[in-house]
Amino acid sequence: MKILIINGSPRTNGATGQILSKISETIAAMDAGAEIEYVELAKINMKFCIGCASCYISGKCPVDDDLETLSKKIEACDGLILGSPTYASNVSGQFKILIDRGHFVFEQLLKNKACFSVVTYENYGGKKALAIINDLICKSGGAVSAKYMLKLNHNSEALNEKRIRKTEKLCRKFISKAKKKNPLSLFERISSFIIFHAGIKPHVIKNKLRYQGILNRWEKNVLK
Ligand SMILES: Cc1cc2nc3c(=O)[nH]c(=O)nc-3n(C[C@H](O)[C@H](O)[C@H](O)COP(=O)(O)O)c2cc1C
Repeated sequence: MKILIINGSPRTNGATGQILSKISETIAAMDAGAEIEYVELAKINMKFCIGCASCYISGKCPVDDDLETLSKKIEACDGLILGSPTYASNVSGQFKILIDRGHFVFEQLLKNKACFSVVTYENYGGKKALAIINDLICKSGGAVSAKYMLKLNHNSEALNEKRIRKTEKLCRKFISKAKKKNPLSLFERISSFIIFHAGIKPHVIKNKLRYQGILNRWEKNVLK
């Protein structure tokens, strides 16, 4: 079972990174046969989306950096853990680039994948940032199998006994879902069905020429 962890904080050892590292350590110790990969967005080569929309036609982004490789890793994993600090009641800039460039929604990149969302914040807006990540998961066909929103002072120690216990509990919940063939709850299945069949698919079919790359990807793993 492949588990991919992505840290969207520019501070690799900040609060978000500390929680994500604890999650990684906990899952590794669970003997669940998990092969874990941890990606720091702050350390990879990642440029802005240039808005050319050629990925819709070709299925590939023409910008030459590490995002295509990361998107393929996301597609190949069985469980995805996404973390971001809250910046201005939103996700970090790094995380937003991942959203824009990762081929998530049209490609249904997270179809039937268990996901775990993590957000840290200091005062206000953590809920909004978490909702942005969860919305991305839902619109991409995935399941929000566990979520953690942690409020703490900037630059303070993220881990204490209570938070470690909570992290461990959430990891158990996440892994039990990641082991399932379809981890989506009934509600998530209905939402995903409506989003895809009433929203995304009719738009793509209506504009076939502009979305040939998307249609090719769907033939591989969405329309089967
Ligand atoms: C540029 C910037 C903007 C921030 N905006 C918010 C915010 O809108 N709401 C909030 O509660 N905390 C905000 N914070 C605090 C961070 O979300 C919080 O300290 C977080 O835990 C930092 O994560 P990190 O240690 O992984 O970098 C902001 C911090 C920075 C540096």
